[in-house]
Amino acid sequence: MCGIVGYIGQKNALPILMEGLRREIYRGYDSTGIVIYDNNNDLVCVKAVGKLESLESKLDNYQLEGSLGLGHCRWATTGTVTEANAHPHWDCQKNIFLVHNGIIENYKELREKLIQEGHKFSSETDTEVLSHLIEKYFENSLEEAVRKALREVRGTYGLAVISKKDPQKIVAARLSSPMILGINGNEFLVASDPSAILTYTRQIINLDDNEIAVLKPDDFFILKEKPLTQIEWTLEEAEKGGYPHFMLKEIMEEPEAIENAIKGRIMAQEGLVKLGGLESVSERLRKINNIILVSCGTAHYAAMVGEYMLEEYAGISSKTDVGSEFRYRKPIVNEKTAAIFVSQSGETADTLAALREMKGKGILTLGITNVIGSSQVRESDAGVYTRSGPEIAVASTKAFLGQLSVLAALTVYLGRQRDMSLVMGQRIVSELAKLPKLAKEVLKSALEIEKIAKKYKDFDNFWFIGRKYNYPIALEGALKLKEISYLHAEGIGGGELKHGFLALVDEDFPTIAICPSDSVYNKMISNIEEVKARKGKVIAVATKGNEDIKKIVDDVIYIPKTLEMLTPLLSVIPLHLFAYYMAVLKGHDIDKPRNLAKSVTVE
Ligand code: G6P
Repeated sequence: MCGIVGYIGQKNALPILMEGLRREIYRGYDSTGIVIYDNNNDLVCVKAVGKLESLESKLDNYQLEGSLGLGHCRWATTGTVTEANAHPHWDCQKNIFLVHNGIIENYKELREKLIQEGHKFSSETDTEVLSHLIEKYFENSLEEAVRKALREVRGTYGLAVISKKDPQKIVAARLSSPMILGINGNEFLVASDPSAILTYTRQIINLDDNEIAVLKPDDFFILKEKPLTQIEWTLEEAEKGGYPHFMLKEIMEEPEAIENAIKGRIMAQEGLVKLGGLESVSERLRKINNIILVSCGTAHYAAMVGEYMLEEYAGISSKTDVGSEFRYRKPIVNEKTAAIFVSQSGETADTLAALREMKGKGILTLGITNVIGSSQVRESDAGVYTRSGPEIAVASTKAFLGQLSVLAALTVYLGRQRDMSLVMGQRIVSELAKLPKLAKEVLKSALEIEKIAKKYKDFDNFWFIGRKYNYPIALEGALKLKEISYLHAEGIGGGELKHGFLALVDEDFPTIAICPSDSVYNKMISNIEEVKARKGKVIAVATKGNEDIKKIVDDVIYIPKTLEMLTPLLSVIPLHLFAYYMAVLKGHDIDKPRNLAKSVTVE
């Protein structure tokens, strides 16, 4: 995700900003930029696409001396990866420069209005509307202009602004995007991530939502007095947001991953979904009657859930395959086929090979991708970003939630192009909007899941069973357990138990049964009884309020009720946590499991 750093004091700002950026880029980035208020009273801005080193080598051509400045590393969301889209952004007169994290949801309307009022834009970003709005409201106080501008904005922001017209000041603001102030005697820093300023000061103030801070060379103020906090974290801990592992941090970000994937895309009243990345191919998509979804690993299980959703609700014949198989098959395709490639990294070799094969045949290719500007994004005809933010742990977790959310949104998008009713569109979309909150509720069971992991830590083999929408979730639960706890785990469709698998069930081979109260619930109960009859222990993932299940199984983890097609977005969360705690109990390297890579870029 993007990173912000700012400095005002007596020292030369540039090295402090560069050090801050160096500490922030672990989160992933695609471009960088700085602005310095130099000793000639000029604002000098330098930006570069790619690695921080590109910015450094550009800066070699400048003699930048000044004790006030801002820095930013960008992870593109709105607008492609270009120098123009990198931050800082400025107003028409280049008097105001700012850096921003978050999303301005109503930027299109604001941009149009500002253009009509005569403002000239130089980037495709949502952020740039902020600099023009501040310009519009500027009279003589920068904080006053920021305050007025933010009243017009819908969305989220962590923001830092400087201006030539009200110099010697940084104005910072936040709403649902972290911002901290660092205090070091008579010097002040601002950052979106403590790691950016930890080498410099440990005295910080957390800015709260809707607060605006004004930092001056010798003083600062915010609307309310805030207590000083002493940070005890090491740099590494700070990067993990205080969590012991990236994987746990990323599981805890699963509600946010759902929210980011649907933010600004769903129209509740109209029961519609807006996917900007598909606009260019929307007419072609109307004619599609056959979809192939290709992916690998965890992304493949998301695609399988998508296959069920697309068939049942969009009414389009859909099939999935893993990239490594698909690339060597002879798929039957025609001009009404669309191939969808699902990948966190957008660089998985087998998925890319399948994409190239389909492109060569003239088939419409679409990517569901997390990493902006990756090969999959560049090479497919169109696509949708999952916006899950950087995923550092090798085992994919929050990106899976992003993929499922986009697939659900895509189902509504394609369904409403066909015969999905307004009422059904509204229903899915409104349930989808509730999911981030419901996912947060599931995370509250973390302690309970840790206890269950302790109880089962000495078993070496696990079954994961599920049916229909939760069949792929059984596969994902088993994969996650294998990946990080190195235990033998197999995921199967509950109906397949009798076809050989029951032979292995005994008191040493526990089963995790994903059985929300849905259309296949009774079938799942029969499967659970088959396991129980052979003395197998069962942990159930069931819908809240289902007390009866306690009589049949050994342990229950509850998830809130939602639409059947959306249950995977909740049922997978306890399985990610279960795998995590099992691996912690075994003392494994959680974020870098043995023999595995985050991105498999070779066949
Ligand atoms: C590797 C990773 C998995 C991931 C898979 C597909 O195996 O370890 O976590 O699910 O690749 O990666 P992709 O980037 O294409 O989603």
